[in-house]
This record gives sequence, structure tokens and C-alpha cells, in this order.
Amino acid sequence: MTNTQTQLATTVAPARALGGLAPNIPGDKSISHRAVIFAGMAEGVSHVTNVAPGEDVASSMRCVEQLGASVQRDGLAVRIRGGAWQAPAEPLDCGNSGTTMRFLIGALAGRRVEATLIGDASLSRRPMLRVAEPLHALGALIETAAGGTAPVHVRAGHPLHGGHIHMNVASAQLASALMLAATGANGRVTISGAGSARDHTAKMLPFFGVAVEREGDDLVVVGPQHFRAADFRVPGDPSAAAFWLAAAAIVPGARLRVENVNLNPTRLGFVDALERMGAGVQLTVTSEDPEPMGHIEVSARPLRAIAIEEPEVPAILDELPLLGIVAAYATGTTTVRGARELRVKESDRIAVLVNGLRKLGGAVTEVDDGFDVTGGTPLRGATVESGGDHRLAMAFAIAALRAGAPVTIEDSGCVAISHPSFFSDLEALRR
Ligand code: S3P
Repeated sequence: MTNTQTQLATTVAPARALGGLAPNIPGDKSISHRAVIFAGMAEGVSHVTNVAPGEDVASSMRCVEQLGASVQRDGLAVRIRGGAWQAPAEPLDCGNSGTTMRFLIGALAGRRVEATLIGDASLSRRPMLRVAEPLHALGALIETAAGGTAPVHVRAGHPLHGGHIHMNVASAQLASALMLAATGANGRVTISGAGSARDHTAKMLPFFGVAVEREGDDLVVVGPQHFRAADFRVPGDPSAAAFWLAAAAIVPGARLRVENVNLNPTRLGFVDALERMGAGVQLTVTSEDPEPMGHIEVSARPLRAIAIEEPEVPAILDELPLLGIVAAYATGTTTVRGARELRVKESDRIAVLVNGLRKLGGAVTEVDDGFDVTGGTPLRGATVESGGDHRLAMAFAIAALRAGAPVTIEDSGCVAISHPSFFSDLEALRR
């Protein structure tokens, strides 16, 4: 592997063999955002350990600090004294993090704290009306830029009232924004349409003293409610583990074990997909509360194509580009449908995947809500674009492990969003 001096491009060589115990994976990014934001809303001192080391969660920490929380970071441990929030003097910069922006829009609206939220070029293209409109229905005053994007301005307004919100998109970030808003409302907020989107917020809020009821598939929060400080250890991130598991599945003879991973079923769509494709997969659950956690071991075996349909998408959402890479090393045509949401992530993940795979010689077809990848033709070395998207940069690095020649990933520094040590950890897996 070589890095340019500016870290803007990284070249990854094919691997002859991979194996053993994978390096510690970062703490779960989704859970870290929640722990930091909930602790920032809570009276008293919370300790969060094994917090995700990337830039996204650092954005959440900076924002809650600007809102009045005290945040002291010591490596992967963070001490947060939260409480009442005050209107920040400057806009809240959410960087590249959609989770930070959407959660804070809901939390600010519920608390009636006035603030403007901004983000980088990628985040400033992403849809925010999906959060603002349902919050308007609860009485919030929120303005977006003309395209329904950031900057987003939350006004102090009147107290929110209860209501029934049906979400048009099965988004965990939206459901979470609504639950956070509901904690400041006067009344009962019922949220439907979350489908199988990750449920960390409903699981973690009670840990911070907030009651969430489940009525069938609906989530109910009766406001107002108060957050209380909690100590929270963040489990390893299954979305980070997925890259090592994919590597183990595609490099002949490989076997890798990743330990202390969050095993919440709403995050295990990729592990399930690898198993359906024929990889050897073993899960060991070591603890259950508040999130199931344990070890995952994957070994390489001949892979075959699978079909992913809309209902399965939320549980594999962030791993779908990586699935496209694994599919290039499987027999047959893997199809992904019902995943239009990929187009409004940190990049248009369908377009970036398709462009990169084509450069690598892969047989790939782009459709509006997904893609088809036909495996069997070995990928070749090439230079590919990450689109500034951490998950695409890492997916192409995994593709390189079984390609015919090294792959250069442009704009690879974006891995710092979720996994700053990704490229050196990858090198440690070679045997
Ligand atoms: C996240 C939810 C997902 C995921 C994102 C993180 C979360 O987005 O893609 O990376 O932490 O709640 P959705 O809001 O589309 O479910």
C-alpha cells in the first residue's frame, strides 16, 4: 500500500492470503452519535467509552458542546456533562454527518432552542425536508434552503404537540429525530413506517431515562420527558466489521474473526447476505443488554449470486456498495432493488459503485433503485474515484484484495469519517 503525501490517493495491492483475528474495529458510529447526543441532553455526567474515533462522531461532540454541554475526550473515552441547551452563537457545523444534522434538528425543535445547522458540500446536498415536514406537523418552525437542504434553521417557536406521524421513508435518522422532538413535546407522538430500520434509538433512550413504547410496529414517545446521565460502552461497529468479513469471503483460503461487534439484527443484513451467498459464517453472542454483542467469523468458500429486495434494504443499507464488490467475485448475477435511498447518502452510492466497478472491469448495470452485478470475470487493477464517500473508498480497497493488479483509490482520506486507521488495519490482515 502506498499513500501520496496528501493522503488523497491510496493504492491497495492484491492479497495472496488473509487470516486471523481482525484488529479491533471502531466503536459503532450510529450508537456513538446517540450516546454523545443523549448524554449532551442529560442532566449530570455521562461516561461513554469505546466511542467511534471518526470525524462524524467528532461533529456530534462539537455540536453538543456548542449547545452548552461540557465534553472532555481522552482517547476513546468521553466524559459529557449535559443539561439545558442554549442557542449557539455560531451555526452548528455537522460536517459530513447526516446523523448529526437530522438528530439535532429533532432535538432542537423539541427543546425550542434556536440554531442554524450547516454541513460540508455532500451534506448540503442531502434531503432535510423529510425531517422538517413531519416536525412542522408537530408544531415546529424549521426553514431549509430552497432545495429542502441545509442550511437548516430551527426557530424556538411554541411547544410541540402530540400527533401521529407516518414516515414516507424507512429512515432510522428520521425516526430518531421524531423521537427526540417528542421528548420535548406536550403529548403523545406515534411514529409509524420505520420498518426494519436500525432501532438503536428506541433501545438506548430508556438507558438515558426516556420511555419509548412499541405498539405493534409503531414507536410511541409521550412528552415531556427528561434525560438522565448514563455510562455507556459502545460495541464494535458491524458496518466497519463488514469490510473485514467481505475480505475473508472473497480471498481464497481466508478465515477472519472480528470480536466485540454489535449484533443487533437491524444491522446484520450483510452477514446474512454473505451466508446466503455461500460464505462460512459463525456468530457467537456474548452479551445482550442494551444491544446484543459478540463475535463474527467468516471463511472463504465459493460464492453464488443473491437477490436483495426492498424489505431487506434497511438492515444492509450501508453495506450495499460492499455487497456489489463481493458480487463481482460470485457466480451469477446479484440484483439489488428498492435501494433508491443509496442515491442520497454521502454520495450517490449507486453511481459511484457502478463507475468504479466498470473501471475495474466488472459487469455491472445501473438501475434507478439499485444495480445488477454479474460475477465471474476477474477484476483488474485501475484507478477509481471514491466520490469522497468513506464507504465507497473502503469497498474499493476490499475489491483490490482479489483483483489482478493494484487498485488506486482517489480521494481516500474520507475513510477518516468512520475508520481513520482503515488502511493500516487492512495491511495488518495480510498473511
Ligand atoms: C443511521 C441510519 C441509516 C444509515 C446511516 C446511519 C443512523 O440511515 O444509512 O449511516 O445512525 O441512524 P437512514 O436514516 O436512511 O436509516
